[in-house]
Amino acid sequence: MSSTLVTGIAELTTNDPELGVLSGPTHTAVVLDGPAVAWVGPAAEAPEADVRFDAGGRAALPGWVDSHTHLVFAGDRAAEFAARMAGEPYAAGGIATTVAATRAASDAELAATVRRLGAEAMAQGTTCLETKTGYGLTVADELRSAQVAAALVDEVTFLGAHLVPPGADADSYVELVCGPMLDAVAGHVRWIDVFCERGAFDADQSRAVLTAGRERGLGLRVHGNQLGHGPGVQLAVELGAASVDHCSYLRPSDVEALASTSDTVATLLPACDLSTRGPLPDARALLAAGATVALASNCNPGSSYTTSMAFCVATAVLQLGLSIGEAVTAATLGGARALRRADVGVLRPGARADLHVLDAPTVAYLAYRPGVPLTHAVWRAGVKVA
Ligand code: NIG
Repeated sequence: MSSTLVTGIAELTTNDPELGVLSGPTHTAVVLDGPAVAWVGPAAEAPEADVRFDAGGRAALPGWVDSHTHLVFAGDRAAEFAARMAGEPYAAGGIATTVAATRAASDAELAATVRRLGAEAMAQGTTCLETKTGYGLTVADELRSAQVAAALVDEVTFLGAHLVPPGADADSYVELVCGPMLDAVAGHVRWIDVFCERGAFDADQSRAVLTAGRERGLGLRVHGNQLGHGPGVQLAVELGAASVDHCSYLRPSDVEALASTSDTVATLLPACDLSTRGPLPDARALLAAGATVALASNCNPGSSYTTSMAFCVATAVLQLGLSIGEAVTAATLGGARALRRADVGVLRPGARADLHVLDAPTVAYLAYRPGVPLTHAVWRAGVKVA
């Protein structure tokens, strides 16, 4: 694999505490050697490489780390979305529509969707992607969802506990998830997740699912506090989950719990809150209390059909009250923390060579020019992908 010297970077966000943000009239350079970053520093001192790329005075940053998506699905729910925009509420039960379409789709069709959306995300600067099962909800359909995802994305999460399938008994279904379904998928996934919410799984059922996953060596993630105040955040913190995602309804005790630990990241999904017309999370309270915050797209056909991390960053700045730096950090380093990865979301020697050059002189443009495509070039693991 060859090396690439990227010169002419007017502003480099590294997320490395020692390197910080490198800017000023003397441009910065980065050397990508094979799949890893080899060197970061002043352009005038840069070592040579096989290939040169002139960023032309643009800003660069680590590729987005999108730590929450649901890409293994079939069909769309545009009609449900339109009804919502006409006043219907969002409810967990809409998931069943996608479950029916997913069960009817072939493996090749499911893989094509993951590939299409993964490529769409990468063209916009996403270089590390998590995705979940959860639209199969039978042993066979969860297994093939996990296998399709494992072949195509960085991180895979088992979400058999997404919804009790229509007609099934909740406790029997939890036993299936914790037993035969978990046995079938465990070799293909790193994480287990549960939708701990009214209309999905209660605290006891969620605890049973997470505990079973932990016993199989899986890391824990929780969907919590999306549709109302609930036990999701407290359970995630108590069990040491890597992330609790949504957090739209937080009591002061939930904020305190998230601030009390460095284990559990609060992953905010503002595109979902807008698409469901739900309340926006109190991101400022989380940051003020000292919680670690991530931003993710939650790309799925029901509640958030976007792959655009730039949209999430712009929304976090313009509507959640994050500063530009806070939002960019949350969408890169925050996502990496939510996935417990030290190799992505950061640019320093040894990190994965995931570099995103913006068609802008500073990252401020991500919110200053919202909705405008600003990706100029992208490398993932040292390979130029856009
Ligand atoms: O994260 N909250 C649960 N799961 C998805 C929604 C999936 C759907 O509506 O199809 C979410 O928003």
